[in-house]
Amino acid sequence: MIRVLSVASECVPLVKTGGLADVVGALPAALAAEGVEMRVLLPGYRPVLAALPKAEPVWQADDLFGGPVRLLQGATAGLSLFVLDAPHLYDRPGGPYLDEAGQDWPDNDMRFAALSWMAARIGVEGAGEWRPDLVHCHDWQAGLAPIYLKARGVDLPSVMTVHNMAFRGLIPPDRLAALALPGWAFQPDGMEFYGQISALKAGLVYGWKVTTVSPTYARELTGPDFGAGFDGVIRARGADVSGILNGIDEAMWNPATDPHISPYKAPRGKAKARAALIGEMGLPEGDGPLCVVVSRLSEQKGLDLLLEALPRLIARGGRLAMLGSGDPVLETAWRDAAEALPGVAVRIGYDEALSHRMIAGGDAILVPSRFEPCGLTQLYGLRYGTVPVVARTGGLADTVIDANPAALAAGVATGVQFAPVTAGALATALDRLCDLHADPATFQKIQRNGMRAPVGWGVSAAAYAALYREIARPR
Ligand code: ADP
Ligand code: GLC
Repeated sequence: MIRVLSVASECVPLVKTGGLADVVGALPAALAAEGVEMRVLLPGYRPVLAALPKAEPVWQADDLFGGPVRLLQGATAGLSLFVLDAPHLYDRPGGPYLDEAGQDWPDNDMRFAALSWMAARIGVEGAGEWRPDLVHCHDWQAGLAPIYLKARGVDLPSVMTVHNMAFRGLIPPDRLAALALPGWAFQPDGMEFYGQISALKAGLVYGWKVTTVSPTYARELTGPDFGAGFDGVIRARGADVSGILNGIDEAMWNPATDPHISPYKAPRGKAKARAALIGEMGLPEGDGPLCVVVSRLSEQKGLDLLLEALPRLIARGGRLAMLGSGDPVLETAWRDAAEALPGVAVRIGYDEALSHRMIAGGDAILVPSRFEPCGLTQLYGLRYGTVPVVARTGGLADTVIDANPAALAAGVATGVQFAPVTAGALATALDRLCDLHADPATFQKIQRNGMRAPVGWGVSAAAYAALYREIARPR
């Protein structure tokens, strides 16, 4: 039995802004099957504390970074949790990273340094009766934990997982003392990044192992285009870096039992979900494929390219339903597109139930990302018989088999890939989708292949467990 403390800023079903939460929430159950006991350490945001009314304090201090803190232990939704209750850092409205006006909280450095500090304290001294063999850090918010461990003189084994290299966790250098960070780590071979502190780099340099969420993204990170300035660090870590593909929660995303839709067996039973979605979105009937998008609206996701490619899809009888939120400029552009183009319906916002209805009802799901460490919505699409059309990058490249002539002849295609990631190549991919959709036998074969594709955690949970075993000290 290996005990792992998983440290993150989000976790389903308690707090979520993206796929990080899905993964952090799914790992404990997936790894239990591999003989790993995983507990999750989260910040005590309001919704997290509200979900754990019976949580018990296991440690407290009068002052951590400017206020009293308690470490709570509790359980909910099958998860064993530690929660850092620090009202001066987390008891506020808004989201985990942004205030109600959409601005970064000004003290985010301290909010997540405190989380990492707490992880190291649990690593060294334990929490109640429980002490981890290993700390698993997710993204920059947990990246400082390996440094806090070293600063305590205990180099507990650690894994740093990069879910998105674009978030570097930059902190001005004059914050070093306020965050109780050791001066020795502030150097180019340490956590220094062009004169600033980078919490992400701290994890990349001092984590015992570094993983990211797909093999292709792991390779992409060794080059300047995707490395976000850390490609040298990644190359220097050599074989310590690996890519382990994300899975999905197959209980939560199961078309035969999904409580958000009337359950169906795709592809045949899909017709109902599709008709319901067309009705709900107020879309006209058409001969082409009903495409869906469920996404954060950010530069990463390439949805500006989709705006350019849309008229061609609509001209071919396709329709598009988009659910997303984020960048206000993109939100406006999408609202305008829905006004201008019949056949395009847009919902701006975050809506878990609608995301299920859309992924269930679509013929195809579009993910034209400029980069995508793994991506989860194309995996949901596969499971629901909703054919993914994806950019050939990161985890999208690793999870979808392009319907090229060889794959079609071999009967193994599960979707459409395109490259380079341009509006032109996307438009061509949408043309290919329309051609495939116009041939029902071929399209159904692709749907069926996708539904059979392994999208669960099995193989990847075993890979994490093997990595833990490689570095954890025997008890
Ligand atoms: P990322 O983490 O980069 O946003 P992923 O594809 O890994 O990308 O994960 C996104 C997760 O967030 C998925 O579970 C997706 O269904 C969900 N999601 C994104 N936008 C919305 C939205 N507007 N409403 C509901 N769920 C959303
Ligand atoms: C990040 C990435 C996404 C990945 C998710 C979970 O948010 O953008 O590709 O699926 O983390 O690992």
